[in-house]
Amino acid sequence: MSRSSVLITPSILSADLGHLQDEIESVKDHADWLQIDVMDGHFVPNLSFGAPVVKCLKTRLPIDVHLMVSNPSDRIGEFQKLHVKHITFHAEAVQDSKARRALLQAIRKSGATAGIALNPETPLTKIEDSFDDIDLLLVMSVHPGFGGQGFIAEVLAKVSEAHAKRPGLMIQMDGGVDQETAVACRSAGATNLVAGNFIFSAKDRAKAISQLRG
Ligand code: DX5
Repeated sequence: MSRSSVLITPSILSADLGHLQDEIESVKDHADWLQIDVMDGHFVPNLSFGAPVVKCLKTRLPIDVHLMVSNPSDRIGEFQKLHVKHITFHAEAVQDSKARRALLQAIRKSGATAGIALNPETPLTKIEDSFDDIDLLLVMSVHPGFGGQGFIAEVLAKVSEAHAKRPGLMIQMDGGVDQETAVACRSAGATNLVAGNFIFSAKDRAKAISQLRG
């Protein structure tokens, strides 16, 4: 199956966590990455899971850790031990630009690529000092914390802005991504689509993933 240039990253937050390994098996031959939404109940109102769950996962899919936590630098060591491939933290959780750049370096030193996430209301200018230093930009198209929310189309302008500034940058979108909104995401310049509800509520996961690729 020829794959479009866009990567598809299922988010396990919307999976049946009581049968998590089966859920991963159902996407492993079709997805590119697997996203773990780590939530601390403080930076976001929800509490999800962390390194102990990642430790149990059996998959060859690259693990993409999305840290929705207030102190992301505290979490890097445990994920380094688990050899996760990508770690993204929120710009809103690390206000100081020097601290942001140091955290990007620490993530890279851990062996993972380093990303920064922006909430829908956070402009790209918030990270102008680190923008050239990131491996990945995660543009949230929902307010973080829960799966199954509605897509916030206003963030597409931010995606286009980032794509224009760094055409080769991996731009990930996350939240409310489905077959329809994926079209706008791809046109705006997103190159990696995270989807939870659209994929894990589908009977045919292969078809759902292929619909996101367009
Ligand atoms: C929300 C998370 C998303 C979520 C996926 O805070 O970051 O990754 O699990 O959202 P949906 O279900 O909208 O694809």
